[in-house]
Amino acid sequence: MLFCALSVAAQTPDGAAIYQQQCAKCHDDPKEKRTPKPAAMKQMPPEYILRTLESGVMMTQGWQLKPAERRIVSEFLSGKPLSQTAPARSKRKKRAKTSSSKSLTADRRSKLLL
Ligand code: HEC
Repeated sequence: MLFCALSVAAQTPDGAAIYQQQCAKCHDDPKEKRTPKPAAMKQMPPEYILRTLESGVMMTQGWQLKPAERRIVSEFLSGKPLSQTAPARSKRKKRAKTSSSKSLTADRRSKLLL
């Protein structure tokens, strides 16, 4: 039973915990003038935060996380879900037009990541 509970916890990492462990030391530091604070990051779209972690200024930090953790922490910080925002949806539509089987795997993959 304990093992079950632990493995579930490992598969669904908590955005607040990831933030506390991986980001707070810089982003909650009042002496750090350059880092956007959580309130400022709440104004950012989740896609923007995710991109920052994957290929932007936070790449070094982002690559220490699993892809699912990057998505979860992006959603946690923006307070909005990634999948329901316009840019991601229009991308998915385009892909569905060109090849339906490809978009299926992409959909499935994004569900697994979440
Ligand atoms: C080692 C310190 C440090 C850690 C750890 C850190 N950051 Fe940052 N972060 C910064 C600094 C410094 C900036 C400002 C960079 C700049 O403006 O050039 C920044 C900027 C950002 C931005 C704004 C980027 C932009 O283009 O405006 C986001 C979003 C962000 N960080 C998210 C995160 C997340 C999420 C984590 C945890 C996974 C994290 N950061 C961990 C130091 C850190």
